Amino acid sequence: MVNLSIKLPFLKQKGVTENTTPVQAQSFAKGLVSVKDIIAPPAVEIEFDHLKIGNFYYRTLFVAGYPRFVTANWLSPLVSFNHTLDVSMFIYPQESREILDNLRRKVGEMEATIQSDIKRGKVIDPSVQVALEDALELQQQLTKGAEKFFQFGLYVTVPAETLEELNHTAKQVESTLSSLMIITKPSSLQMEEGFKSTLPMGTDKLLITRNMDTTSLGTTFPFTTSELTANEGILYGINEHNDSLVIFDRFTLENANSVVFGKSGGGKSYLVKLEVLRSIMFGTEVIIIDPENEYQEMCKSVNGEYITFSFNSSTKINPFDLSQLTNSGENELGQKILSLHGLFKVIMGNLSPSEDAVLDRAIISAYKQKGITPDPKTQNLEPPLMEDLYKTLLGMEDAVSKSLADRLEKFIKGSLVGLINQKSNIDIKNAFTVFSIRDLADELRPIAMYILLDFIWTKIRRDLKKRILIVDEAWYLMRYPDSANFLNSIAKRARKYYLGLTTITQDVEDFLSVEVGKAIVQNSSIQMLLKQSAAAIDRVAEIFYLSEGEKHLLLSADVGEGLFFAGPAHVSVRVIASPEEHRLITTNPMEIAARTVPKTPAVDRENNLPIQPQPTTQQINQAPINPQPNMSLGNIAPLNLNPNPNQSQVVFQPIPPKPQDK
Ligand SMILES: Nc1ncnc2c1ncn2[C@@H]1O[C@H](COP(=O)(O)OP(=O)(O)O)[C@@H](O)[C@H]1O
Ligand SMILES: [Mg+2]
Repeated sequence: MVNLSIKLPFLKQKGVTENTTPVQAQSFAKGLVSVKDIIAPPAVEIEFDHLKIGNFYYRTLFVAGYPRFVTANWLSPLVSFNHTLDVSMFIYPQESREILDNLRRKVGEMEATIQSDIKRGKVIDPSVQVALEDALELQQQLTKGAEKFFQFGLYVTVPAETLEELNHTAKQVESTLSSLMIITKPSSLQMEEGFKSTLPMGTDKLLITRNMDTTSLGTTFPFTTSELTANEGILYGINEHNDSLVIFDRFTLENANSVVFGKSGGGKSYLVKLEVLRSIMFGTEVIIIDPENEYQEMCKSVNGEYITFSFNSSTKINPFDLSQLTNSGENELGQKILSLHGLFKVIMGNLSPSEDAVLDRAIISAYKQKGITPDPKTQNLEPPLMEDLYKTLLGMEDAVSKSLADRLEKFIKGSLVGLINQKSNIDIKNAFTVFSIRDLADELRPIAMYILLDFIWTKIRRDLKKRILIVDEAWYLMRYPDSANFLNSIAKRARKYYLGLTTITQDVEDFLSVEVGKAIVQNSSIQMLLKQSAAAIDRVAEIFYLSEGEKHLLLSADVGEGLFFAGPAHVSVRVIASPEEHRLITTNPMEIAARTVPKTPAVDRENNLPIQPQPTTQQINQAPINPQPNMSLGNIAPLNLNPNPNQSQVVFQPIPPKPQDK
């Protein structure tokens, strides 16, 4: 260790005495490394047309000419330029009185010019005429106080890692801006000043300004639209604001769950089918609960497994199946008993506390009779059947258990026989599995969906894979608090098992009016809102904090149009499919009928994938062209009220500008 407190002969000796500690401290401090030393670049090289700071190159452009007419947000191509840029805008308010004095003089000059031209019989210079009109108009506006007067400076610094990149990007910026009729020039020989002017310090060292009135200045406000474009993931649609692609990977978000809300026919299933088609290409497995046989066609085309769940089908599911997981960290039997309780409440309606207690005892003892206890080792044994529970209840020989047994009877003897009272005979082996429950009566669908969800949940946890579970028409489950709770519990635990739950519902109001519905929304990182009905919009707006504009968008949305929320980003999206994809996923009866009309041998030959006329849905997706009225941009260029901007700096204190970083 070197003792740094010793007096070195080359240190400044002036005034240093043994006891002047502050000076000593100062010289000591000089030898220390400060934060500035650490962050400062090794060198700054100032060339006449660029700067080199450390390993980075910079070039500043200033705007020398503006277009005569602009629309609102006309700078958006600059703001959303596809390269890092430092953009700064300086706004200097001007005293109207002085401007008016100047204007009066200029107006007088121009009128005199015109008059003398007329006298001499010359043709009037049209540019003087236009300038005069502009000046008169501005004079009027300023006098009325309708407009104020400003000077505006706009500078752009382009950073780059190499000189080639710098030249290339700067050229791109220049051509982007020149397409907006903005003339830019590099601040040659003033690169340092240019660079400093675009630092977020609020100092304008270039002072190259342009006169503007309030309206024109307003149009320069850098509105940005949010984007939802990631480097990986799948395409969901096109951003309606800036035509960028909406691409993201739901598995990179906090959780992979999504909710899809919209009016019937709004394009919910279509959107989800599209997502599924694109996800399976990236190796995601998909499981769907399909109450409307909507996914059959698509399932066939991707060689998926389509399992029909009805009374006369051979498909059986035993709700008593256990996951046989030994390392999940959860009490598997306990979880199962909990979900069975939920199921029985959906089947039998509300249970009183004593009935619930009896049922609990009966379930535990039914498992015990098969040798199954909370010990995971015993859980590989054959699980009990509904019949075993029924017998257990009968064997308990009291009034409560008798009544419970009676209520259960129809599932093992009566009309519902064969549905859930046998050993499971299916498995989820296919990467694309659809469970159809359309053949079940309406009031049985929640039960079936519950059993299926439980079955899927039990099965998929055995091996970890990237999966999406889709529950279409999820409002069936929301009808009963127990099934709704079960859905929410899956949403909450899905992340741990690499599962993304997609909940689709049209009954938005009902879904969101219960607490569990809101919880499911909160447990979903992705929310997709499609066309909403007027009845539901207020509730939706309240839950999703929609602005008036967004509400309007959802009310007037076309099929396949809506809002996407992924994490913090909001974008309005148009869902589009390729003609090939559309053919697989459309449920438009007209298109399907058109496909099956020619019952000629040609169709029989290609029974599986008949040749169809290409659908013409792309019309739906045509973005409306939205013309915007032009706004005048001061129109006073020829006036040149202030030929030397440096003067204005002396007279008018600049207000702190708003540096705009991109
Ligand atoms: N983005 C879209 N482009 C073209 N057609 C669409 C689009 N979204 C939905 N459709 C069509 O609109 C109809 C209703 O869509 P669907 O997804 O079944 O509605 P939902 O599930 O919301 O009730 C279907 O015929 C479907 O083919
Ligand atoms: Mg649907």
